[in-house]
Amino acid sequence: MAKLWSGRFEKSASKLLDEFNASLPFDKELYEQDIQGSIAHAKMLAKQGVLSEEEKEAIINGLQKIKEEIESGEFVWDIADEDIHMAIEKRLTQLIGDAGKKLHTARSRNDQVALDFRLYVQKQNQEFIELLKDLIATFVNIAKKTDDVVLPGMTHLQHAQPISFAYHMLAYASMFKRDIERFQSSYERNNYSPLGCAALAGTPHNIDREYTAKELGFKAPTINCLDTVSDRDFALEILFNIATMVMHISRLAEELILWSSYEFKFITISDEYATGSSIMPQKKNPDVPELLRGKTGRSYGNLVSLLTVMKGLPLAYNKDMQEDKEGVFDSVKHAKISVIILNEVLKTMKINKENMLKAAKTGHLTATDLADYLVEKVGIPFREAHFITGKAVALAEHKGKDISELTYEELKSIDERIGKDVLEYLNLINSMNARNSYGATSKEQVRKQIAYFEEFLRKA
Ligand code: ARG
Repeated sequence: MAKLWSGRFEKSASKLLDEFNASLPFDKELYEQDIQGSIAHAKMLAKQGVLSEEEKEAIINGLQKIKEEIESGEFVWDIADEDIHMAIEKRLTQLIGDAGKKLHTARSRNDQVALDFRLYVQKQNQEFIELLKDLIATFVNIAKKTDDVVLPGMTHLQHAQPISFAYHMLAYASMFKRDIERFQSSYERNNYSPLGCAALAGTPHNIDREYTAKELGFKAPTINCLDTVSDRDFALEILFNIATMVMHISRLAEELILWSSYEFKFITISDEYATGSSIMPQKKNPDVPELLRGKTGRSYGNLVSLLTVMKGLPLAYNKDMQEDKEGVFDSVKHAKISVIILNEVLKTMKINKENMLKAAKTGHLTATDLADYLVEKVGIPFREAHFITGKAVALAEHKGKDISELTYEELKSIDERIGKDVLEYLNLINSMNARNSYGATSKEQVRKQIAYFEEFLRKA
């Protein structure tokens, strides 16, 4: 069958062209959005008197039938149709005859693809928000049970100060909250309808873009059609938002990998989400967090790829832009399953608090507390207190102990101004709870943070 655009051509397209030029093999993913957009367009054309009521009804019924055909697998995909827009339009005309040929009045594939893809991205923005809300709920649930589980907080991957596991989990809740906000703000910024922009300059037909915008759930139509048909910022934004989100996921994945190693043993990943080795019978491998970490590669790649496609394109539509979709589909697909499986890993992992506590007792985590004690209780300037504490660390090392295990007598031997109340300062839990400034690791602050995230989840 001749192509929908073949009027001016004398020879028919080569098979090689069809294969190279077509987006149908991947843009069929947009069939729902394409049909949704066409229904809104047909309703608007009828309202404006461009189509009769009967034509509108025939178009809508035909499009619904096509949707069923696609979903039941009956629809015949033909790469010669080039893309989802023409595949559906051709089938519509087969089904309903001449009325089908009128649907493309006041429309171009340029605004059609901009619409379909935007509707798809907007839907994904919303789905990521929901998935991330579930993830944050898991961090909150874990935090509620672990506000007195102490582990070594680290800088440079070296023991630094005692913190609670709850506090550590809520650090991730904070990151994913920002991710939610990014998806939300992208949604708001891009919530404008491209439909009716036609090829690039608008249309002489009497259309109502306001109406189709509302019909499709957008806030309003876009303001400048030349920009609209060449704009893929909304796609870049979701790629960036996903890239940032998977970067957060990969940081947690890395910690899960470390924590489940023999050296740490802070957590045990559930058997359901761990894998074995084909040769070493004893092995239990953290493949899931490793893949979560590894999937950042494709997400960053997809972002850089589309940024590069868009760079230097003259206005308005250029076929280069057909390269916009596969990367987004890929990032969305992998990021979605990543969030879902991460959530399951977290829900089912075992938290080994004894091992965390044991680790917290190495590395002199409460050394800063001794210095703080000398400043607060004895009135020694911080620099001097730092020096005296250094001596206490050296003594503990010499005795093969942690600073929190030094006796009062041993501490007093370093500086006789040290009183017995120092022991409270060196206790790990006390040290953690002493950090009670806003946003800190103390139990009291962690409770505030839990309430904060619960409130966020209620409102988001
Ligand atoms: N398949 C095309 C794409 O994905 C649709 C738009 C085609 N427009 C055009 N003027 N060739 O970008």
